[in-house]
Amino acid sequence: MPIILGLESSCDETAAALVTADRRILAHRLAGQEAEHRPYGGVVPEIAARAHVEALMPLVEAALAEAKLTLADVDAIAATAGPGLIGGVMVGLVTGKALAHAAGKPLVAVNHLEGHALSPRLANPDLQFPYLLLLVSGGHCQLLEVRGVGDYRRLATTIDDAAGEAFDKTAKLLRLGIPGGPLVEALAREGDPRAVPLPRPLVGTGEPHFSFAGLKSAVMRAVDSGKWQPADIAASFQQAVVDCLVDRTRIALESFGTGPSVRVERSRDTRGAEDPVLDFARTEREFSGPTALVVAGGVAANGAVRTALQQLAAEKDLPFVAPPLWLCTDNAAMIAWAGAERFAAGLVDDLAFPARPRWPLDPEAETVRGAGVKA
Ligand code: KG4
Ligand code: ZN
Repeated sequence: MPIILGLESSCDETAAALVTADRRILAHRLAGQEAEHRPYGGVVPEIAARAHVEALMPLVEAALAEAKLTLADVDAIAATAGPGLIGGVMVGLVTGKALAHAAGKPLVAVNHLEGHALSPRLANPDLQFPYLLLLVSGGHCQLLEVRGVGDYRRLATTIDDAAGEAFDKTAKLLRLGIPGGPLVEALAREGDPRAVPLPRPLVGTGEPHFSFAGLKSAVMRAVDSGKWQPADIAASFQQAVVDCLVDRTRIALESFGTGPSVRVERSRDTRGAEDPVLDFARTEREFSGPTALVVAGGVAANGAVRTALQQLAAEKDLPFVAPPLWLCTDNAAMIAWAGAERFAAGLVDDLAFPARPRWPLDPEAETVRGAGVKA
């Protein structure tokens, strides 16, 4: 059974994990950088990159030791190659390339978003393609048709901030510190979600995309007014985000599978082939409805978000799948697993594969005006 080493370093989490193709997590190690970034109130890219350099190899060694393995036992090395903070991505990808080269193992360059998109299949062996994925993290807020490995169609994205970014900014406005999301969620438990009138940008317009910038400004005005308790602001903000996520997910469920032809992006298969180029193979397929409603990414750790989506899935008679909390936020097991899925499909990469600060999962999706892509 193939064993994949996964490396993650695209934002402020350094991680290494060993995962088998039959979904056994042999080891997963993670080092956060909160203490380094806390004095600045957010992630500082240069500090992040240096911290990744220091943390990554010891984590790889610890993971191998925990699994009682050496690099020789590993079948492929999967590293996040983007999107993300470029300094950090380069650290992980270069480390992956060096290990692959030294041990004579294939490299799998993984899109961080694909790691999130496929992670529910690591935790749930029964989850079949195609499914609707709400990917909500600090850098992204997207609805995707996950049609197969390497085959994603974007139905919606954010035209300004990501949902996690809105949580982080609200935490900052409420002076809660970092990590923003969990601190806002904890404070929201003590507040009234109906107390503060806050907007639900684009809800009810039929617009497929997300927008959170207006909500953030409204939170700022609510804080500045001094009229409301912080807990009520947190609870009302969280409820507004939940309402936006549910509304747009409902629209995506309705438009699922109705899009035009399907494209399969493939990277190069270098395993023994003489002419290994398989770039951008095209297939056309018809899909019916989704097999499940799935949520992934850091904001999927939020209890209110999970509960609301679970209710929507039940209403639509669909299974609801959410990975365990530790698999929702950034980690290397999801990268190793995406690597395992790509490796099984023969998708391995050249050592020349570049680090990509931006790397859309669906290269044919139109750029949305005003879309701010953070990490
Ligand atoms: O996926 P992730 O770990 O990193 C990115 O790829 O962005 O997501 C991190 C984001 C942060 O914005 C964080 O505030 C948010 O996920 N987050 C949460 C919760 N836990 C993490 N947001 C709301 N509630 C939570 N419990
Ligand atoms: Zn992430």
